[in-house]
Amino acid sequence: MTTLRVDDNLIKLAMAHSDDTPVLIMDTATLKRTAATFMSYAPAIATYYAVKANADPQVLRTLATEGMGFEVASQAELESLLSLGIAADRIITSNPIKAPAFIDAMRGIGVDRFVVDSMDEIDKLAAHTPGCQVLLRLAVDNTGSTWPLDEKFAATAIETVELALHAVEAGLRPVGLTFHVGSQCTNPYAWATALRDAKAVWDEVKTHGINFNTLNVGGGFPAAHDDVHPDHVQSLDSIIASVADFPDATTIEVEPGRGLVGDAGVLVSRVVGKANRSGTHWLYLDVGVFNGLMEAVGGIEYQYTSLDRKGPQHAWTVAGPSCDSMDIVARAVRLPDLAVDDRVAISPAGAYTTVYASSFNGLAQPRILCV
Ligand SMILES: Cc1ncc(COP(=O)(O)O)c(C=O)c1O
Repeated sequence: MTTLRVDDNLIKLAMAHSDDTPVLIMDTATLKRTAATFMSYAPAIATYYAVKANADPQVLRTLATEGMGFEVASQAELESLLSLGIAADRIITSNPIKAPAFIDAMRGIGVDRFVVDSMDEIDKLAAHTPGCQVLLRLAVDNTGSTWPLDEKFAATAIETVELALHAVEAGLRPVGLTFHVGSQCTNPYAWATALRDAKAVWDEVKTHGINFNTLNVGGGFPAAHDDVHPDHVQSLDSIIASVADFPDATTIEVEPGRGLVGDAGVLVSRVVGKANRSGTHWLYLDVGVFNGLMEAVGGIEYQYTSLDRKGPQHAWTVAGPSCDSMDIVARAVRLPDLAVDDRVAISPAGAYTTVYASSFNGLAQPRILCV
């Protein structure tokens, strides 16, 4: 467990707005500031927020006001955007595997472009939405990302060329490439490296008469987990420099999720119990793996801050409130000698927390408060 920076502003908000826990407090000022960083690259780079990271309507409204586009992976995400009055021309989807009903729903709002990474998905699209445009999802190096995405999705370079050829045979229109460097990507140059691999595919399909025009470089932008100091400008500048190698790319897109909303959120929990088990101090909070901290099991590390008590610290194993033994969120967390009902702030928590939360064991899901 690293010693982590704590955002003073988030801690102030956590102190002020946490009578009822668990609560996820979203700081609108931070959200707007991060959105402005991405939007400052328009029109060279078009930003589509990956709704899966945090689908709270107020978060979506704020990002819509900042002029952002949106990337959806399901019908429910699409419907929530439409119910907020967000126009269809600001919505894309990059989910490589889509339910037929979702394909129909996207067609219904006039979206004619889908992502594919397999022959089967091409055949499905050809049946459901003949003649549509496709982006091909290319497998790229996910080294340096805490949350790799390269096993479940994406095609190798050779397969991607074959997919492009098959798409043409199936009557679809391959228009470009997409990739994902993995979530919580700590290497700011990962996109540049991926774009070098993309260039080989881009040029190869041209020899077969297929001219791409679109590059979607996905998400992966990090939040301040571990000892990471996110610098989206560094990553975006390096993307801009790399796409100069693609003079015929008329559309460049990014799809940040975590990097856009993560650092704007703090989750406030309360201690529900303690135990000393063979010399190990256990701290049980009212949030855990099943109601907000699911990503802890995949290696995402949070900062834990005591809001009500100071004093000498010692190491705690932090667990959630459920009866499941998988519900352990962190070990060797340094905190003072807390008591039941003391509050603990957990950050950065704006991304991939409440969206994963269930009511397992009848436990409360965190409410969301945008301030
Ligand atoms: C297609 C797609 N785009 C964007 C994202 C957002 O990624 P991140 O939260 O790492 O920015 C994801 C995350 O899974 C994704 O699958």
